[in-house]
Amino acid sequence: MAKSSNSDTPTHVAIIMDGNGRWAQMRGRPRLVGHHAGAKRVKEIVRACPDLGVKYLTIFAFSTENWTRTQTEVAGLMKLFKRYIRRETQSLHDERVRVRFIGDRVRLEPALVDLMDNLELLTAENTGVHLTIALNYGGRDEVARATRRLAHDVALGKLDPREVSDETMPKYLDTYFLPDPDLVIRTSGEARISNFLLWQSAYAEYEFIDTLWPDFSETEFQKVLSRFGQRERRFGAVPV
Ligand code: FPP
Repeated sequence: MAKSSNSDTPTHVAIIMDGNGRWAQMRGRPRLVGHHAGAKRVKEIVRACPDLGVKYLTIFAFSTENWTRTQTEVAGLMKLFKRYIRRETQSLHDERVRVRFIGDRVRLEPALVDLMDNLELLTAENTGVHLTIALNYGGRDEVARATRRLAHDVALGKLDPREVSDETMPKYLDTYFLPDPDLVIRTSGEARISNFLLWQSAYAEYEFIDTLWPDFSETEFQKVLSRFGQRERRFGAVPV
């Protein structure tokens, strides 16, 4: 597993893509139009990563709380995810992107899970950008599921409770294959983390951007990344 960086470019950027609904409402359009515009933006931002030096990109597509939205919006989002995966599978593979999903798949429809599995399998050997899509993901839910797996290993005698530490725990999280995020970006002016990567973001830098996700351009992404380069990261230590 790669270590989090302390360099000018964040190795791992995580994004809370917020503001699709408002973007659509401002145009007098249904919220789903905003999600479609948001999906186009995902493509652009993923494509920009290699030139900007971002190795890992993690995006929050659907939270464990998003099921409380209207049935129309939830169904529309699920349809959009299926369409996005179907349409983008080949070009993501051609661009050497390695795609993985985090979150609980149990509640997702089997047709969507199949597409997710196929995309993960197809791109498993790719060495380009690591794109992780959080789908039916919640940080608390992830920690609870990880604890369940850990308790199971203890019950089977595979893990000694005395070995449980902040080094053991990440191996049980959905993100066991990822370095911690260096930078977490949230668009749309809200300054909350909304249950995203709670454990992993302990030392992440945060950027709360006013721009709504469908308007978040590559140029703005670049500006946010250059601001990151000016920050001094201390990881709890005192500068010498
Ligand atoms: C939050 O905006 C956004 C979501 C809950 C969905 C994110 C989904 C996409 C960007 C679509 C495509 C994603 C992929 C991976 C293809 P919001 O609806 O809460 O906006 P609001 O706060 O303005 O209402």
